[in-house]
Amino acid sequence: PGVMACKRGALIVLEGVDKAGKTTQCNKLVQALQQSGRPVEMMRFPDRTTTIGKLISAYLEKKSDLEDHTVHLLFSANRWELVPLMKKKLEQGTTLVVDRYAFSGVAFTSAKPGFCLDWCKQPDVGLPKPDLVMFLQLSPAEAALRGQFGEERYETSVFQRTVQQKFEQLMKDPSVNWQVIDAAQGVDEVHKDITNYSLNAINIAQNLPLGELWK
Ligand code: TMP
Ligand code: MG
Repeated sequence: PGVMACKRGALIVLEGVDKAGKTTQCNKLVQALQQSGRPVEMMRFPDRTTTIGKLISAYLEKKSDLEDHTVHLLFSANRWELVPLMKKKLEQGTTLVVDRYAFSGVAFTSAKPGFCLDWCKQPDVGLPKPDLVMFLQLSPAEAALRGQFGEERYETSVFQRTVQQKFEQLMKDPSVNWQVIDAAQGVDEVHKDITNYSLNAINIAQNLPLGELWK
């Protein structure tokens, strides 16, 4: 008898502006999938633990300055360096829940003057394509109610508004499976929506090959 092909895991990404609750919801989703007996792991970008990630982290903490194109390419390189691991996990049947991905990469850099969406996308073309990207939608007014912004680079309401507009442009691309989640709901309602979309994506992905992003 031939070896049965193992059903692959799904690549699930959460995106959204600051304070939308991405990290909380990633943790809750991982916990729920674990409890239902599904193999799952969480990842986040930037992954600040690698050599490249440490350069990015110092930049975000304003401990160093980097030229804008350079830091964009470092964020992308930080994803590419984890691709072999991601592919291995997915092939083994593990679902990956990812806190930010290439969409943050494009939305944040293209919010800077002089950067177009298309240039920003190029370095990430061909990355593993998410089976599902959930955008946690929160109006700037709602975000303001959740308190002050942090001290890191990009954490200002003016910049975040531009980032939001860039995400909206990215969401017009029908080649990506976007789902908009109303992040102004309570934590448990948001979690319920996210879990439903995720279970559906896991079922569909297991019989499909992993795609290539923006290709
Ligand atoms: P974090 O707060 O989720 O750790 O994200 C760090 C910041 O980095 C956040 O402001 C979004 C930004 N970012 C980029 O500018 N480019 C990227 O590719 C990613 C993943 C995040
Ligand atoms: Mg942050």
